[in-house]
Amino acid sequence: MPEKPSVPAGSFTSVLNEKRQFKPSAAFSKAAHLGSEAAYQKLYRESIKSPEKFWGRMAKQELIWQRPFKKVLQWKEPFAKWFVGGALNVSVNCLDRHLGTATANKAALIWEGEPAADGKPGEERTLTYQQLHREVCRFGNVLKQKGIQPGDRVIIYLPMVPEAAIAMLACTRIGAVHSVVFGGFSAQSVADRVQDCGAKMIITSDGGYRRGGVVPLKKNVDDALEIRTSEGIHLAASVSSVIVLRRTGHEISMRTGRDFWWHQEIEHAASECPPARMDSEAPLFILYTSGSTGKPKGILHSTGGYLLGAKLTTRYVFDLKESDVYWCTADVGWVTGHSYVVYGPLANGGTSLMYEGAPNFPEPDRFWRIVDKYRVTILYTAPTAIRAFMKWGDQWPNKHDLSSLRLLGSVGEPINPEAWMWYFTVIGKKRCPIVDTWWQTETGSILITPLPGVTPTKPGSATRAFFGIFPEVVDEQGKGVPRNTGGKLVIRKPWPSMLRGLWGDNERYKQVYWSEVKGSYFTGDGCRQDKDGYFWIVGRIDDVLNVAGHRIGTAEVESALVSHPSVAESAVVGRPDELKGQALVAFVTLKTGVTPSSQLREQLRQHVGKEIGPVAKPDDIRFADLLPKTRSGKIMRRFLKQVASGAEIKGDTTTLEDLSVLSKLSSQDD
Ligand code: WT7
Repeated sequence: MPEKPSVPAGSFTSVLNEKRQFKPSAAFSKAAHLGSEAAYQKLYRESIKSPEKFWGRMAKQELIWQRPFKKVLQWKEPFAKWFVGGALNVSVNCLDRHLGTATANKAALIWEGEPAADGKPGEERTLTYQQLHREVCRFGNVLKQKGIQPGDRVIIYLPMVPEAAIAMLACTRIGAVHSVVFGGFSAQSVADRVQDCGAKMIITSDGGYRRGGVVPLKKNVDDALEIRTSEGIHLAASVSSVIVLRRTGHEISMRTGRDFWWHQEIEHAASECPPARMDSEAPLFILYTSGSTGKPKGILHSTGGYLLGAKLTTRYVFDLKESDVYWCTADVGWVTGHSYVVYGPLANGGTSLMYEGAPNFPEPDRFWRIVDKYRVTILYTAPTAIRAFMKWGDQWPNKHDLSSLRLLGSVGEPINPEAWMWYFTVIGKKRCPIVDTWWQTETGSILITPLPGVTPTKPGSATRAFFGIFPEVVDEQGKGVPRNTGGKLVIRKPWPSMLRGLWGDNERYKQVYWSEVKGSYFTGDGCRQDKDGYFWIVGRIDDVLNVAGHRIGTAEVESALVSHPSVAESAVVGRPDELKGQALVAFVTLKTGVTPSSQLREQLRQHVGKEIGPVAKPDDIRFADLLPKTRSGKIMRRFLKQVASGAEIKGDTTTLEDLSVLSKLSSQDD
């Protein structure tokens, strides 16, 4: 059992920062979709007074329905149905709706591939709405031809290339449910996800480029398809076909009858593909994310509510207009890539930029070069990247013309005020508002955020609730706490883009999100509201870590470590890290007869890489003779966190730590 999350004590960003406020400029407000506090208040009050009326009106106004809905919300806690009786197709709302308008021939996606190590520029591709529509239809027909039917699950395991968006949209075209797996996950992770959702198909590529190297995606898929558990269960038995995109041209093996080349399959595919009529509540996608226990959970999102959330927030939070070049730097393997690279921008007729590579390859000015080259107007990235840019130095952004930028966004973890100020000054030249957006895989779209042109910002605060959202900070009893008091962040009422459950596990859904605080959705985050009602998110208060914006469950890393033959027991905790926000520290006790060594440490890191993926490799592995436990046998994580944050052990890297001392210090259960 995980320990009960406790309300964080203190550790908030310096109160001093609250006094520092940045008001939107008159010029920005004047041109914004929503440009005054009065206009905002009017809409906000309506959304809070009668949320169902508000969401109903928005759903009618924003989305194209194939069949109108009869009821806005049917709520049987914790199960929500939004826009009951309605039918719509996501690809129609993202693509067809723009055909026959001036938008048809503007760029929907602008893509740049990773440049070569010798500095040779990366490939470039632009797809207009009309072209994207055609590619989506053709690929939709390929899916159908391979036997994919509405409701079938399809795994997408691709690099950041336009085909990732095409594959997602093609699934929505025919009503299949996609589950995108980030390219940084291992064969084992792919197999686990296939098994959990019973996917019929995997869409992958012969490889992806990353910092000059090639990620062997197809090879990982081949391995995933062979994995059997110790009981002989074939994890990926449900997969009948694999579609392979040619990206790198590297040699891979293709199995006849199972594996098919993307380019060969689309050759004869028709460019018309009638859109499936999907129930508003039909599953749209599953995205796996880490929790505090067990294997990753399949977060389930459904059609109508999700799309409304993604569309509305993209318009208001990013003030997205058709003239913008909008760049969200997230990979489509994460929810940010779903809502703010693909669905939100396209539903609004925006131009979304996709970049395949890393921010510092071949040089640390990649991002600024791209901003300059494409005249990017809106940039949405993560604090971990911002801190890295700060470290690399101002000379890299200063080499480029960033004057096209008009709005900056941040997401993924709390942004420290120093990074905020740097972003504001060095990148935004004090002209661009910053939107610090709080949300989660589960929430589907942004819930707490400033609105540019309206909300005065404070560095480090995600500020206020979005329309129709009811966040509150509560104590252990679930009661609202006074201002300036820390507590748990909950959402009091359902919202359209909320998760509909965990794939195949309603019990776990209830237990994880709806049992912690009665009648409310529990976010897992600690928070405080200041005197102005602004929200200051502290970060996770459960056993989930945020490493460089990636969500990693300590339990998952622990079970990966314990699955290694040398390991007896392990406990994984986070320690603050200047760049990554948090770093992973693993305490490991070894089986009798095994001696610690630096080779073993490296082996264990590789083992975790193989079990979960490179993103989960511990930054630090510490061998211990015993793990400190409470009398009831629970590992004392709080102590381990303190030990982990302390000075690193110098000298002999294989020293055993005597952590048993700690358990003697505390006679109380942790
Ligand atoms: C967790 C969700 C959906 C965004 C990408 C991450 C943390 C996210 C912020 C922010 C402070 C933030 C929270 C949250 N988080 N954005 N602006 N300020 N914390 O999605 O992987 O589902 O992680 O990321 O701790 O619970 P995710």
